[in-house]
Amino acid sequence: MIPLCVPNLTGNEARYLQDCVDSTFVSSVGPFVDRLEDMVAAAAGCPLRAVATSAGTTGLHAALTAVGVERDDLVIMPAFTFVASANAVAQCGAAPWLLDVAEESWTLDPAMLEQVLKTETVHDKAVLRHRASGRRVAAVMPVHVLGCPADMDAIVAIARAYGLKVVADAAAALGSRYNGQRVGQLGADLSVISFNGNKTVTAGGGGAVIGTDADLVTLVRHLTTTARVSSDYLHDRVGFNYRMTNLQAAVGCAQLERLDEFVGAKRRIRATYDNAFAGRVGIRPFPRPAWAESECWFSGFILEQADRLDGLRAGLRERGIDARPFWRPMHLQPAFAQAPRSMMSVTDWIWPRIVTLPCSTGLSDADLATVISAVEGILS
Ligand SMILES: Cc1ncc(COP(=O)(O)O)c(C=O)c1O
Repeated sequence: MIPLCVPNLTGNEARYLQDCVDSTFVSSVGPFVDRLEDMVAAAAGCPLRAVATSAGTTGLHAALTAVGVERDDLVIMPAFTFVASANAVAQCGAAPWLLDVAEESWTLDPAMLEQVLKTETVHDKAVLRHRASGRRVAAVMPVHVLGCPADMDAIVAIARAYGLKVVADAAAALGSRYNGQRVGQLGADLSVISFNGNKTVTAGGGGAVIGTDADLVTLVRHLTTTARVSSDYLHDRVGFNYRMTNLQAAVGCAQLERLDEFVGAKRRIRATYDNAFAGRVGIRPFPRPAWAESECWFSGFILEQADRLDGLRAGLRERGIDARPFWRPMHLQPAFAQAPRSMMSVTDWIWPRIVTLPCSTGLSDADLATVISAVEGILS
């Protein structure tokens, strides 16, 4: 089977893991954690050391808490994302306010953001409230979908005009650029990376929070380490045990050493698929907005005839090629059935038509050619 996306562990991973065992530093303190935090900050273009976390989801929860998201608040976010983004909002006791994505990028639509803030919120004694529910609107959470940065200049400007915090879900965007800027330089209060096993660089699991405000980043570190203020077990608030272990960080460091190489491989795979299927009737490439140099986490295409998708996936699997459905958006998830929402015309059209194709960084040219000819054979 040619897998969809598997890690490439042919670098220093085993050696660094052995170092952890030899040194006994296997838990949440250790030299690899510090090194990973510096490497993430450098890759994201942040002057401040990142805060390594146990997962991207826990990083999002800590980041949202740090910017002040509280019980019963609303956080504006796109419906088209992985469920972890919305779960992190719910873990704060808040609810997502779900908006559609822009067709050109599949990321949060700034025009819609501005429209709903203008028409569906009211200022009540300096607090921004959702008119229909009376709930406070606390933050905006753009998601860099598939590694493609959201239109951050527009989103951040709108959020600031309404006094809203911005936490970017940059789970799959380390290595991406927006108008030449790295993911830590796009104006968000905090951004969160994931090192889950299917990400371009993995730590087996884990995440990192980055930001440019020293107080905020310090608060995230405090929250993720049980809010401990001193070695005699004084904790000044309810905190979380969300630290990354040295074992995870050992793998993460070995992976980050190869970030440029892996991103290069991902971009080559995307370009090969895009060229192979260019101009084919009924197939559209994944979006490439002018502002983005995506790290191209996943590759594939849109199949306009949604009713042919099951047949395509089955045909690929018969030929030994992994093919799966992609994210079911948040407005269709039972857990978020009550969440306020906009019209979802773009999200509703794209998600049942997405075909993801094998895109591991170790994918050989021969396997790429096999996938392309299999798709062509099944669709013709
Ligand atoms: C968009 C998005 N947000 C959040 C996450 C959560 O990250 P993690 O799996 O590390 O908790 C992921 C990936 O898993 C993701 O793709």
